[in-house]
Amino acid sequence: MAQLGEPALEWTRKHLLGLEDLSAEELDIILDTAESFREVSTRKRKKVPTLTGKVVVLMFVEPSTRTVTSFSLAAGRLSADTVSFSKGGSSISKGETLVDTARNIQAMGCDVIVLRHSAPGAPHLLARNLECSVVNAGDGAHEHPTQGLLDMFTIRERKGHIEGLTVGICGDIKYSRVARSNIWGLTKLGARVVVCGPATLIPDGIEEMGVEVFHDLDEFIPQCDVINILRIQLERQKSGLFPSIREYARVFGINSERLERAKDGLLIMHPGPMNRGIEITPAVADGPHSVVLDQVTNGLAVRMAVLYLVCGAKG
Ligand code: CP
Repeated sequence: MAQLGEPALEWTRKHLLGLEDLSAEELDIILDTAESFREVSTRKRKKVPTLTGKVVVLMFVEPSTRTVTSFSLAAGRLSADTVSFSKGGSSISKGETLVDTARNIQAMGCDVIVLRHSAPGAPHLLARNLECSVVNAGDGAHEHPTQGLLDMFTIRERKGHIEGLTVGICGDIKYSRVARSNIWGLTKLGARVVVCGPATLIPDGIEEMGVEVFHDLDEFIPQCDVINILRIQLERQKSGLFPSIREYARVFGINSERLERAKDGLLIMHPGPMNRGIEITPAVADGPHSVVLDQVTNGLAVRMAVLYLVCGAKG
């Protein structure tokens, strides 16, 4: 396990753009480094000097509550300076290109840009055009690597391991960056990944990512050690993918009655924001299986680890 503040000699990546390209060893380095940083948040003075003098810019061109707050706190706990801006409050809204905006920020001496953007590949574009590190905080329906990592961290914390577990992902798989990052990461660490949702919300050829597909919750639930429940991404969908929200909730909503068929020790996860009463009932969201708020807590340690590693990779 990495020691706090010790250089991660094995880590060589300047950017974190997705989990698709990472090896199982690299995933383990991030999770082990996060483990070593978790304790910082339990201290009376929640701060270490590890990234003193570094500048982290939070460029959130799409809305966020959890991720932006978590990255901001993570950078602060490592003593980095942070600047945060959104689309409305920046010159992006005046027509400046993303690359021009980012180059101007870089010219002020920033070390890491954390980018959330609605366009898949936007962080990759910045990584190709900038000298500083780029961390993907969610790019359209493509990837959300730190969410995938914090989900894996939470599973490992609760179950002690990931290999050999069956992890279910339920709901809107097609438009979910969280689903993609979870699938890439979990399969590399040896989990069996099963997905469940209406056929219109499961992408064609998803089996090629190494997952099994179900369309019936009552067959799916008893298989799972963990169920990660996804929000219906109405902002990314075309209409007509299911008859109505009420119909979706009836057929694919996770409720207490359905969980009577679950394995003992089932973990219920949700990346948020949650649509209570649609994909998950309040009784399940707040019930004994739920680790939803643990995910959020663990996100801080995971993002501290990611900022530390990408900064270290540049020497
Ligand atoms: N899970 C997640 O990405 O939440 P936010 O959109 O609030 O950042």
